[in-house]
Amino acid sequence: MSEGREGRPDPGIRSGVDGKRVLVTGGSRGLGEQIVRLLAAGGARLATCARNPEHLRSLTASLGAEGHEEPFTRALDVTEPELLEQFVDAAAERFSGLDGVVACAGGARGRGIEDAGPQDWSLTWELNVGHTARLVKAAVPHLRRAGGGSVVVIASISGWKPGPQAQYGAAKAAQIQLAASLARELGPDGIRVNAVSPGSMLIPGKRWDRMRTEEPAAYARFTAELPHGELVTPREVAQVVAFLLADASSGVSGAHLPVDRAQNAPTPGGY
Ligand SMILES: NC(=O)c1ccc[n+]([C@@H]2O[C@H](COP(=O)([O-])OP(=O)(O)OC[C@H]3O[C@@H](n4cnc5c(N)ncnc54)[C@H](OP(=O)(O)O)[C@@H]3O)[C@@H](O)[C@H]2O)c1
Repeated sequence: MSEGREGRPDPGIRSGVDGKRVLVTGGSRGLGEQIVRLLAAGGARLATCARNPEHLRSLTASLGAEGHEEPFTRALDVTEPELLEQFVDAAAERFSGLDGVVACAGGARGRGIEDAGPQDWSLTWELNVGHTARLVKAAVPHLRRAGGGSVVVIASISGWKPGPQAQYGAAKAAQIQLAASLARELGPDGIRVNAVSPGSMLIPGKRWDRMRTEEPAAYARFTAELPHGELVTPREVAQVVAFLLADASSGVSGAHLPVDRAQNAPTPGGY
């Protein structure tokens, strides 16, 4: 049994995703990278995209060096019309079908309500909600042909519990609703759709990691308020995503699963 969270056993999900053909958007860094790595270790066949080709190349090289099948990758911006759709078709052609997709690329543009302009709102919407809708639309014919499949939408506890930035929370809330609605619409095709809402995660170089190094006292106050005294890890979130892609979760569709270790507010400045 391998190690997951420091000092605690990682149950692994090998049998659940072995041979599954899965496309993950935003799989080169952060949570998406952890999802890709966990699925690859479990024997899944993977396609992933991100904007920076360098990061995709180093991910591919590193997975190959670990003895896993190299993922099919393409450098693209998921907010650009048609590029994502073409990549979905190319991945399905390469793998002769698809069993699952994960909408992981996401994030926020702009700051608070007085600073954020219309473009920040529309870009945040497109990056999170628009790309998810276009991903699912492009994937449906391939999933249907495979006799069904699993869609996992990476939302956030920011879409569930209020806190700034509002354009991000509103888009993440829309993703949760989108997943539940699509689960109803696509159920007759055997396609399951679920939303996963990570809590704040420690990702190298990103917000909470920067806070930990640059403002240690504020970070200590933030984590002291968490019931478990620490943030959820991307690896723990990836394990839930893997479960939702596996047949073991065949009864789960239309669900919203927070993976946040009971974190109460999405930011230290939450309610
Ligand atoms: N970090 C957290 O604490 C947290 C908490 C809750 C929810 N989430 C959600 O979890 C997901 C992953 O977050 P993360 O923090 O891991 O993000 P991240 O570290 O910024 O990684 C995002 C991944 O998506 C790619 N990406 C970003 N914008 C893209 C675009 N326009 N087109 C194509 N690829 C794009 C990035 O590669 P490139 O930059 O090369 O494109 C990277 O591979 C997001 O949906 C986020 O909203 C994060």
